[in-house]
Amino acid sequence: MTTKFKQDNLIGQSNALLEVLEHVSQVAPLAKPVLIIGERGTGKELIAERLHYLSKRWDQSFIKLNCSSLSENLLESELFGHESGAFTGAKGRHEGRFERADGGTLFLDELANTSGLIQEKLLRVIEYGEFERVGGSKTVQTDVRLICAANEDLPTLAEQGEFRADLLDRLAFDVITLPPLRCRSEDIMPLAEYFAIGMARQLQLELFSGFSKQAIAQLMDYHWPGNIRELKNVIERSVYRNDDIQQPISQIILDPFASPYRPTTRIKTLSRQQTPAAMNETHNEPAAATQPVESKALEFPMDLKQQCEQFEIDLLQKALENFQFNQKKTAEQLGLSYHQLRGILKKYNLLDK
Ligand SMILES: Nc1ncnc2c1ncn2[C@@H]1O[C@H](COP(=O)(O)OP(=O)(O)OP(=O)(O)O)[C@@H](O)[C@H]1O
Ligand SMILES: [Mg+2]
Repeated sequence: MTTKFKQDNLIGQSNALLEVLEHVSQVAPLAKPVLIIGERGTGKELIAERLHYLSKRWDQSFIKLNCSSLSENLLESELFGHESGAFTGAKGRHEGRFERADGGTLFLDELANTSGLIQEKLLRVIEYGEFERVGGSKTVQTDVRLICAANEDLPTLAEQGEFRADLLDRLAFDVITLPPLRCRSEDIMPLAEYFAIGMARQLQLELFSGFSKQAIAQLMDYHWPGNIRELKNVIERSVYRNDDIQQPISQIILDPFASPYRPTTRIKTLSRQQTPAAMNETHNEPAAATQPVESKALEFPMDLKQQCEQFEIDLLQKALENFQFNQKKTAEQLGLSYHQLRGILKKYNLLDK
């Protein structure tokens, strides 16, 4: 099997994609770690495969693991394996992905939220090419090319202390950043046709009659937040829902949930009509001073200025009560400086002295 044959499913002619593919070809032959960054659905997994099949390790194993779907313990044992009896239920020795990928490539997907322990162990494997199985003391050597992917901005996470900066340095020998679909609109129609033909084949349709002008305009105008995965879904849905295969597809169903009968659901954010009492009930926390103090039916005519002043006074009194009349704390919680709060209290004659 040639490497090219493996990847004839990578569609796109935009300059942005061609530049990425050029970058991939350059870095693929090196055994160094590569980081692939991109929004969801931009093709990170396809690019990871391409890196492997264009590398000198192409005939060795390509092992993948999604790090976000496992608890810390399971992830540790999936990555590094475990000895028999390492923990309750650990029957027999289990080979981890690092061992299985020996000589080949290990693709770690969605790496951003791994724990400190996992990050520390990863750092050691990268640095020394060795690790211990969970529950074991024997050091295992491994020769693995690491490719990692994330859809978050890892340097920002590192700055915030949520990702080890030293691990990031090691993983990011080179970084491939995938452009979102909205930045490579020339790829939309070739991809749409590719997915449509694939779906027509699956449905055993005799032909695929293309897209109407209006459908093309709709596809080109949309911003594709879910990128190529979303495009694939939309196209496949539109192909199978098309009643007349002799006619080009004119109905693009972007949102399968769209319906006049769609049920409404309680939204998490507090509605402006909720009273503080209701807020306490739902969220089991003190009424936030920034929420409306109370809502009552409006009566006109009213003096807006006076109503606002009254609202401010009520709010200040409730906030002071809430923080046991500690003015420093109250100011802090209202986003004011201590002196600003004192100024407002003075204006309303609310100061004790
Ligand atoms: N250039 C492309 N040509 C053809 N299909 C593509 C291309 N890029 C992505 N796809 C397809 O789009 C889908 C999403 O790609 P992939 O799983 O690689 O994205 P991802 O970036 O890993 O997404 P996530 O962050 O959600 O895991 C897959 O079905 C993949 O085959
Ligand atoms: Mg993925």
